[in-house]
Amino acid sequence: MDTVLSGIRSTGNLHLGNYFGAVKNFLKMQEENNCYFFIADYHSLTTYPTPENLHNSVKSVLAEYLATGLDPEKSAIYVQSDVREITELYLLLNMNAYVGELERTTSFKDKVRTQPNNVNAGLLTYPVLMAADILIHRSNKVPVGKDQEQNLEMARKFAKRFNYMYKVDYFPEPQPYNFGENLVKVPGLDGSGKMGKTAGNGIYLIDEDKIIQKKVMRAVTDSGPTEINSPVSEPIKNLFTLMNLVSTADTLDFFKEKYANCEIRYGDLKKQLAEDIIKFVTPIRKNILEIQGDTEYLRKVAKQGAEKAIESASKTVKEVRKIIGFREF
Ligand code: TRP
Repeated sequence: MDTVLSGIRSTGNLHLGNYFGAVKNFLKMQEENNCYFFIADYHSLTTYPTPENLHNSVKSVLAEYLATGLDPEKSAIYVQSDVREITELYLLLNMNAYVGELERTTSFKDKVRTQPNNVNAGLLTYPVLMAADILIHRSNKVPVGKDQEQNLEMARKFAKRFNYMYKVDYFPEPQPYNFGENLVKVPGLDGSGKMGKTAGNGIYLIDEDKIIQKKVMRAVTDSGPTEINSPVSEPIKNLFTLMNLVSTADTLDFFKEKYANCEIRYGDLKKQLAEDIIKFVTPIRKNILEIQGDTEYLRKVAKQGAEKAIESASKTVKEVRKIIGFREF
């Protein structure tokens, strides 16, 4: 069985793109593997959240993942900062990470450009902390998006370097966990590209009905098909893709046929799509709110997750200390 680890950014709410692109696959993943999911709150300090924001975002991210089906009985679900062992491994790994290679990572170079007044050392060593997250459980698989591939490659490099340096075969080289054909790309509502936070084209699981309706009714379309079986433009294709995710096959076929015979009215399509998205999102939203309000439950989950994670993490740190040469007198 693989040990799979996934780090979750502590800021940002889940949108349908995250749900169909990642979370749904996590649910399957947790059935088949020894899974660790954690909320990366240490990492978020590189951008200086206020104490209130830090706490509240961790809480709402945790509630969202629980509401969508991550199961604390099947997986270790924890908050990064509850597992202090990670910081020790981070320190140790820092000793064999080179400043030059860290400076050359694209994410660091991006940050230097976008936040020139706050180029802190935490940003530089972000990939080392991420490697510590992964290696602390000696994980062999990590699901990552395109933007995190380089960080995963760094984790592999540090694992390999550690093994080589101490002539051991201790850390596995963590490989990307591939969702394969289950990798769904969810389009946004702005006519092109993926649904994303930065693009501002998303529907969030906590969006209220009215907001969903408004967003969908405003989605980009085109001037309509001009002849029988006209080719479908990207904005319309995107609406069909969304419909395919939330509506019944009959509904999708109905509108596709209308399109093919040039009888489609985009207003009707959007109305139906909004309705079906609302039907899909509402129970999840209710669940999120309920969990968010249940501090007792959140505390219990976080505690249980931390215990599982600390058990595995402290074992690793103990063994690593021994390999490095820290010994008791
Ligand atoms: N850097 C990841 C992101 O921004 C979050 C993350 C932190 C992570 N540590 C990790 C992801 C370890 C995978 C493994 O999305």
